[in-house]
Amino acid sequence: MTITRLKALITGGTGQVGTELIRRGDCCHFDIVAPNRAEINLLNESDVYSQLNSIRPNIVVNSAAFTAVDAAETECDMAFKVNRDAVRIMANSCNLLSIPLIHISTDYVFDGTKAGSYKETDLICPIGVYGRSKEAGEAIVRELLEKHIILRTSWVYAAHGNNFVKTMLRIGKERQNLNVVNDQFGAPTFAGDIADAILSIAKKVLEHDALEFWGTYHYTAKGRTSWKDFAEVIFETASTWLPNKPYVEGIPSSQYPTAAKRPANSVLNCAKVDSELGPPRRHWREGLDEVLDELKNELR
Ligand SMILES: NC(=O)c1ccc[n+]([C@@H]2O[C@H](COP(=O)([O-])OP(=O)(O)OC[C@H]3O[C@@H](n4cnc5c(N)ncnc54)[C@H](OP(=O)(O)O)[C@@H]3O)[C@@H](O)[C@H]2O)c1
Repeated sequence: MTITRLKALITGGTGQVGTELIRRGDCCHFDIVAPNRAEINLLNESDVYSQLNSIRPNIVVNSAAFTAVDAAETECDMAFKVNRDAVRIMANSCNLLSIPLIHISTDYVFDGTKAGSYKETDLICPIGVYGRSKEAGEAIVRELLEKHIILRTSWVYAAHGNNFVKTMLRIGKERQNLNVVNDQFGAPTFAGDIADAILSIAKKVLEHDALEFWGTYHYTAKGRTSWKDFAEVIFETASTWLPNKPYVEGIPSSQYPTAAKRPANSVLNCAKVDSELGPPRRHWREGLDEVLDELKNELR
């Protein structure tokens, strides 16, 4: 079936990925409907069901989540409410109305001890509350809804929202030296690239409606780096317009205690998504160039 125009309902439209989805929707075959918190209560089953029933999207993209990894350690109830209970409500409503769901998940479902990159079939074993709450959300989607895509991604950043790139630029303005951990590895992924991938995947699964497409996939930018090397590339790339280029010192995670432990290895193997769904996927440096270009004018 060839489809010309599709309707996607997006949750978390004010977040990094949600904002990029809304930006792209109209030029990518999709009409995007993105109700905010005041317009849809994701924790209220009848509200979610009745909104889906009246909007009747072709697909739902769930990018709403409790993403504050450290805060999740003390706000465990809220993390599970948003990352598990709201997901149950959404998956249940989607199932009742036969609407497929693309649900975003995270590298933090893994413990980070594997030597190579993580495949979809590797054992999940989260080491913090955030990861456990996302693991619970994944399990519910699989249990309640056949027509689902779970897309695990990592180290998300954009020109808007709270993220490592913006934090580095902010504190880099004020300091000559920065300590950044050099023993955690992953693939920094521009939220805009995730949005492009989601829309490409959504179009493909809706056009083909083939059973073999549904399931769990890893999607990140190409390449891998450490937070320390990522910070250095940020400052190097922005050096022509930053007032100051700080020296970045690599330190072990043990010297930078945080409320939540992070996996040392967050690198996700994306071979499955490449071969089966083939969404666009760039090197992390390309996404970074785009975001820094956007930030240049704001921060100068
Ligand atoms: N950020 C990362 O580094 C990262 C890494 C791997 C995977 N992921 C996953 O990628 C997805 C998107 O992440 P992101 O970075 O775009 O998230 P984000 O910028 O933190 O945005 C989260 C979104 O969720 C919404 N939200 C949170 N609690 C809600 C509630 N109770 N009711 C309604 N909406 C609520 C927020 O709305 P308000 O603006 O109203 O608060 C916001 O729109 C998430 O599933 C996340 O787990 C993120």
